[in-house]
Amino acid sequence: TRTIDLAVILGDGIGPEVVAEALKVLHAAVDGEAVVRETRYPLGAGHYLATGEILSEDTLAALGQHEAILLGAVGGDPRDPRLAGGIIERGLLLRLRFALDHHVNLRPTRILPGVASPLANPGEVDFVVVREGTEGPYVGNGGSIRVGTPHEIANETSVNTAYGVERVVRFAFAQAVARRGRLTLVHKTNVLVNAGALWQRTVDRVAAEFPQVAVDYLHVDAATIFLVTDPARFDVIVTDNLFGDILTDLAAAISGGIGLAASGNLNPSGAFPSMFEPVHGSAPDIAGQQKADPTAAILSVALLLEQTGLASAAARIERAVAADLAARGGARRTTAEVGDAIVAALGTV
Ligand code: NAD
Ligand code: IPM
Ligand code: MN
Repeated sequence: TRTIDLAVILGDGIGPEVVAEALKVLHAAVDGEAVVRETRYPLGAGHYLATGEILSEDTLAALGQHEAILLGAVGGDPRDPRLAGGIIERGLLLRLRFALDHHVNLRPTRILPGVASPLANPGEVDFVVVREGTEGPYVGNGGSIRVGTPHEIANETSVNTAYGVERVVRFAFAQAVARRGRLTLVHKTNVLVNAGALWQRTVDRVAAEFPQVAVDYLHVDAATIFLVTDPARFDVIVTDNLFGDILTDLAAAISGGIGLAASGNLNPSGAFPSMFEPVHGSAPDIAGQQKADPTAAILSVALLLEQTGLASAAARIERAVAADLAARGGARRTTAEVGDAIVAALGTV
């Protein structure tokens, strides 16, 4: 039988709670078709405070040997001075995305039947955001001078390379071809003229190879309008790392909440393992109370299976989630109850 050699990073806050449910669903969904071999890596803010390790070279090398990585969420108490400066987010999460060359951050959005959207008439919403994952302001170029003085200057430089932009744009076009043939570039070319010109020129050039794809452009501010007023217009959105981060929390909010939003940090070449995680964070406000919705983590497992060639198991999870969402109503359930209900639904879809 097929074996999936999976690395699991539980992380912090609600991370362990949602991953527990995602793993239940994963094992049940592949039963008979594949075996999941789990290796757990105790990483996150809690692990750092206990051991001093954020992500050692050895751990990074070990993670790189797996077929795929499942991550809950990382990040501790924002007021803890020992965690200031996003050392966990940058030193662990972004370090993994960069070191494993996760240049495509794929974030699908659908409004599934039965799900309450805050929008009155959202229409048929089904789009993916293809967020660049290894460049932009996330690179960490920049710095501050005269810190703490009235003359402080703080710079964050957005890095955009022809190589990096082209590869993610090509991935987005391939998605558009496989979907409804529409691609929207989102940027801020009226202000961020250097990066904007590179993105626009790259999209224009690649578009010539895909005459079947209808291409348009929106400034990021206008994109937030349309995500609320007419989200059904979107099919594939391609954008940079920071705009993609912001737009995908908004996309989650319009489609039933952050507890439903899945993501894959993909290395499409397969040179390094891809990493699957819910879009949400460690949610310290509800951690440890079994209040978190594990659906986002469960749908991230579906993405994982789709990307590792187990498409029918992936589709089964999606159908089970859809069935559970349709039946959910207003009832309050614990994190584990949602996971159990989705496992049960696997047997019926
Ligand atoms: P967050 O996503 O953790 O929480 C935002 C809001 O959404 C909170 O009210 C939270 O309770 C709610 N929420 C999140 N996930 C939910 C779920 N599954 N079910 C129900 N409600 C849910 O964002 P934040 O508060 O900005 O960040 C908290 C910490 O997480 C920070 O340290 C941040 O850096 C980190 N973070 C990590 C990741 C990641 O690991 N991929 C992503 C985002 C934020
Ligand atoms: C996300 C998160 C991360 C990001 C943070 C925690 C670094 O918000 O995965 O969306 O900005 O990419
Ligand atoms: Mn985010």
